[in-house]
Amino acid sequence: MTILDGKKTSADLKLEIAESVKQLKLQGKKTPHLAAILVGNDGASMTYVGAKVKACELVGFNSTLIDLPEETTEDRLLQEIESLNNNDDVDGFIIQLPLPKHIDEQKVLMAVNPDKDVDGFHPTNVGKMTLDLPTFLPATPFGIMELLERYNVETSGKHVVVIGRSHIVGRPMSILMSQKRKAGNATVTVAHSRTKNLKELTLQADIIVAALGIAEFLTGDMVKQDAVIIDVGITRVEDASKKRGYRLAGDVHFESVSKKASFITPVPGGVGPMTIAMLLKNTLLACKNKG
Ligand code: GUN
Repeated sequence: MTILDGKKTSADLKLEIAESVKQLKLQGKKTPHLAAILVGNDGASMTYVGAKVKACELVGFNSTLIDLPEETTEDRLLQEIESLNNNDDVDGFIIQLPLPKHIDEQKVLMAVNPDKDVDGFHPTNVGKMTLDLPTFLPATPFGIMELLERYNVETSGKHVVVIGRSHIVGRPMSILMSQKRKAGNATVTVAHSRTKNLKELTLQADIIVAALGIAEFLTGDMVKQDAVIIDVGITRVEDASKKRGYRLAGDVHFESVSKKASFITPVPGGVGPMTIAMLLKNTLLACKNKG
């Protein structure tokens, strides 16, 4: 069994990105600049945005964090987006999700200039991704593809079962893995909350991407021998024995599933760090696209 080490792989990627930043500077080009908008004070979102800003510093990017209160109106948020769209120094920006309930997420994501949409969530970029045209790939699926590639995991002709159909992970993952590309050419089944006999499907899967958001949902009895397991889940589970009062759990029951897996991502240290590295990669691309 091989651990797909996202922490190590993302560290390698960040070194590569830092080297590119140095080269840009030597050529007298601008420093990549990522901005992030955070609305409200959801603990997990604050942690993720903080990690993204820290990663920018590490690779030599400039970063801007726009921290707005929970009660921010949709109009105010749209104004912030317009201002980032018009700010020539900002190469790319993201709006951390989820947004408070009174804000229309779709409307907000549509307001981002697609050329600065380094999360790849704008319909124009989702369309380009679907047609396999050059664009920003959403960071989590992009990170999973990169991890599979770097570990030479065979995907061609394999049966992938993606559990979850979210716009951020499940849906784009299913599209990318079915495309003619590295870590693609797979036969993909998308399973979701209305799927019948899920275990029958997962037992046939050569590769399982668990992205449903239920802690330790996928157990050893649901996977076949030598399956490749990608765990996208990251849920805070109460645990009084921990300093912070919780532990982080994936969607995979690691102890039972790892006994059967050929490759498996841990939580934490698997998909999560890859997501951040790919966001940096998209920002570098946005900066280079500007010329
Ligand atoms: N919330 C959960 N995942 C993501 C992501 O990849 N980008 C943003 N902006 N918000 C998220």
